[in-house]
Amino acid sequence: MFREVKNITCVGAGYVGGPTCAMIANKCPDIRVTVVDMNTEKIAQWNSDELPIYEPGLEEVVKTHRGKNLFFSSDVPKAIREADLIFISVNTPTKMYGRGKGMAPDLKYVESVARTIAEHAGGPKIVVEKSTVPVKAAESITTILREAQKHNADLHFQVLSNPEFLAEGTAMRDLSNPDRVLIGGESSPDGYEAVSHLVRVYEHWVDRSKIITTNTWSSELSKLAANAFLAQRISSINAISAICEATGADVGEVAHAVGHDSRIGGKFLQASVGFGGSCFQKDVLSLVYLCESLNLGKVANYWRGVIEINDWQRRRFADKIVGELFNTVAGKKIAMLGFSFKKNTGDTRESSAIYVGKHLLEECAELQFYDPKVSETQIRSELALVSGKESVDRLVKVHSSAYEACKGAHAIVILTEWDEFKTLDYKRIYTTMEHPSAVFDGRLILDKKMLRDLGFRVFAIGSAPDQAYNMFGTAGCGSGGDSSPNR
Ligand code: NAI
Repeated sequence: MFREVKNITCVGAGYVGGPTCAMIANKCPDIRVTVVDMNTEKIAQWNSDELPIYEPGLEEVVKTHRGKNLFFSSDVPKAIREADLIFISVNTPTKMYGRGKGMAPDLKYVESVARTIAEHAGGPKIVVEKSTVPVKAAESITTILREAQKHNADLHFQVLSNPEFLAEGTAMRDLSNPDRVLIGGESSPDGYEAVSHLVRVYEHWVDRSKIITTNTWSSELSKLAANAFLAQRISSINAISAICEATGADVGEVAHAVGHDSRIGGKFLQASVGFGGSCFQKDVLSLVYLCESLNLGKVANYWRGVIEINDWQRRRFADKIVGELFNTVAGKKIAMLGFSFKKNTGDTRESSAIYVGKHLLEECAELQFYDPKVSETQIRSELALVSGKESVDRLVKVHSSAYEACKGAHAIVILTEWDEFKTLDYKRIYTTMEHPSAVFDGRLILDKKMLRDLGFRVFAIGSAPDQAYNMFGTAGCGSGGDSSPNR
């Protein structure tokens, strides 16, 4: 029924659609890949020297294949007509209106793509959900497509679920060497055929043993479950970090000890100021909403706790900053290093920096931001959404280097684990700051002892204050027998 896949179209040229299609073009020279988006400006950027997203290794691959077997276009109908297989890779943000507001994913973009496909397909198409969607979303897409099929005998559709597990910052590595590829399809001969076509695309570079095929609903749920499990690990270690601060245990040591249990493993046990990004919060909330819709209140509450700990961790960190700066930050300059939700990406969606910034702006602190990959406009607009433009205009400055951001500040706050923050000349920075100078390490990337030796007061998540710094006479205390490890 379906032709061998020679033309792939991806609707949605974002953090998932762009890198995924660049990788397919790279690994499948016999396949022509077209990425389309309704945002014409974004498409123009994909066709320029300045790609719309930063991802290590992406630019090289795009520049090698663009115009050969990788194309970026805003002609959505044409790309749909020409495709054998269509990825739907549009955004599914948390809904901000109506039923499910603040929890359910907004599926209006997915639905609109399904309708566009129904209108312009013209022939048989395999339609693949790559966006993260709640269980049974494929059913709605199928209903829309089958309706079109009733009126046009040339049309024929199968809808597959193929969730994406890449992580921003390591997207190209994850795509090139995935832990697994998951493909869900209808349990019917037609469904199996469609699945086998997509399997053959991935087999160009992924070992068959790593390609897992399931029914559609298992595939959809597995994506939400995977993100919920990952977010839960971060909230778990962050909850432990609070106990560490209150007791003298060190969260780095606890994570190390716990993570060495092979049943648990060491990944995602780094305590921090909280997780961010476009997926974890949205997908856990989507799971919570799903549980509520299924009348599974206990399960909904269980997963909601993961989000609550994350919000609390951000608040706790901001409160700590205020507390340690003698209970007032009004009029004090604070250097905020990092704004993206993690290193090696310029993505700021749900970044913890936004919320820590918001709490400090409420206390009238003057915030001096620096991030190597996030523009001033982006920082200002994200903060304005939660704190209001007036407060941002009055209290926020954005600098083009960490050194500039730290000048005249009472404290440095590390919000993103960018490598360059580890190797800054803190001795030089110390001389340009107000004294006493404090460092709040929200990512556990700095050498506490070195900073204390320079004269900084140091607070790091998950260490008791007396281990983190000596409040009464910081300078030189590092030489006095402090043996806490510098994780
Ligand atoms: P994004 O916001 O970066 O990109 C989505 C793109 O879709 C936008 O450029 C938008 O203009 C376009 N779009 C929306 N409706 C359209 C329409 N009707 N026609 C044409 N273009 C349309 O989103 P991102 O981050 O790429 O995420 C896409 C999906 O993948 C989401 O469901 C997300 O949950 C999921 N995902 C995201 C990951 C990430 O790290 N960002 C990782 C794994 C999954």
